[in-house]
Amino acid sequence: MSQLVKTDTIGTLKDVLDNNWRNGYTIPSARLYPFQWNWDSGFIALGLSYYAPEKAIDEIRFIFKGQWSNGMLPHIVFHEQNENYFPGPDVWNLHSTPYSSKTVPTSGITQPPVFGFIIERMHSIISDQPGWMEFLEEIYPKIYAFHKYLYERRDPNKEGLVYIQHNWESGTDNSPMWDEIFENMDVSKARDVSHLRKDNKNVDAAERPTNEHYKRYISLIDTFVACKYDDEQIAKQSPFLVQDVLFNSMLIKSNNSLIFIGDLLKKDTSEIKQWNDLAIKSMNTKLWDEETGFYYAYDLRNNKRIPIKVSSGFMPLFASVCSEHQASQLVNHLKNSFAENAEWYLCPSCAYTEASFNPVKYWRGPVWINVNWMLYHGLLKYGYNEEGELIKQDSLALVDNFGSFEYFDPRPGIEFDQKRGIGADLFSWTAALYLDFKYNQQNF
Ligand code: GLC
Repeated sequence: MSQLVKTDTIGTLKDVLDNNWRNGYTIPSARLYPFQWNWDSGFIALGLSYYAPEKAIDEIRFIFKGQWSNGMLPHIVFHEQNENYFPGPDVWNLHSTPYSSKTVPTSGITQPPVFGFIIERMHSIISDQPGWMEFLEEIYPKIYAFHKYLYERRDPNKEGLVYIQHNWESGTDNSPMWDEIFENMDVSKARDVSHLRKDNKNVDAAERPTNEHYKRYISLIDTFVACKYDDEQIAKQSPFLVQDVLFNSMLIKSNNSLIFIGDLLKKDTSEIKQWNDLAIKSMNTKLWDEETGFYYAYDLRNNKRIPIKVSSGFMPLFASVCSEHQASQLVNHLKNSFAENAEWYLCPSCAYTEASFNPVKYWRGPVWINVNWMLYHGLLKYGYNEEGELIKQDSLALVDNFGSFEYFDPRPGIEFDQKRGIGADLFSWTAALYLDFKYNQQNF
């Protein structure tokens, strides 16, 4: 049944999305991100579904224009030129690979695979939209090809856990999870890119990654280009190979959704079921630590867990891979390790108990609305309705009171209210997911 919301109830958040709309797709924010980003466009498409279903479908079609012939779905599609972002298409040097899209310039890495679950959620909102079933027929094989690429090219031990090659693939760019890998990285030959950066000139540099880290981000890209984007070579040579909890949780959730959509379309989904059987088993052994009761990323290059508590560790709830026992331990951490007291806004991106916690720095402490949205649904699924409701109310209050910001300072108090909304303003996924929080009560 259609759950379309009347346009006039949406107000300023619709303005954010309208202003960021660029003739077929939506930019995350004019100030910092002037192109189309991969997982952003999934969340944005969901928000658009509530009042502009045709735009929502376009949004997804446009990101998939960038898909590579090997199935990889790039993290940025550069539909038009813009000098206000670094690294642009030249840095990615796509002439070095035969796989890149012939239609549009893109980056050479991916982002968390959200499109499976996004189209399932959209199906529950706009399945009566003309052309919807044809759209599902069109998009299903593309999402499937992306997942197949991940399991075939990014899982060298065939354990059902795919690795990310770059911190930007995690979606949680400067998470403290990556600090040790970056500290140990040999950058003696890496180039200094501090003068090329735009992000730290457009918003307060204290809220952005450091120049030392940026040097490493670009050095990884230079390695990919030197490897001609051949994943086998990258797996041999690159210092950054990580099995990330959020990434693999999104993949499992999206696999489940592909099975649901595949059944509707009468496809054979047995391979996807096999992917998930193995993935869930491995996630609960390799990434779960019973002693501390939390999920951690695994550094495949150095063969060890990365024992830092970040909000990505809650995402297995969203993917329904936890037992009741695991869920209760996670909820315990949510209340005791991530918030100093009940006055804090949930959910900080890093536990405040970590030495690296920083309440205003990007993915090292601030609250992000997309993580909250996934966490909310995960908590409800396990019966933690009260905790889920807290997450939802905090998310709505942050946007209502401070605006559609990229991220928010979690600490309580008037002094923080002065500058609680941080990073980019008029940020698209914050607006889009607010709409889903507000207008769709169905647990997912
Ligand atoms: C930042 C975020 C990333 C997001 C991008 C565009 O880089 O860390 O997750 O996709 O901005 O909004």
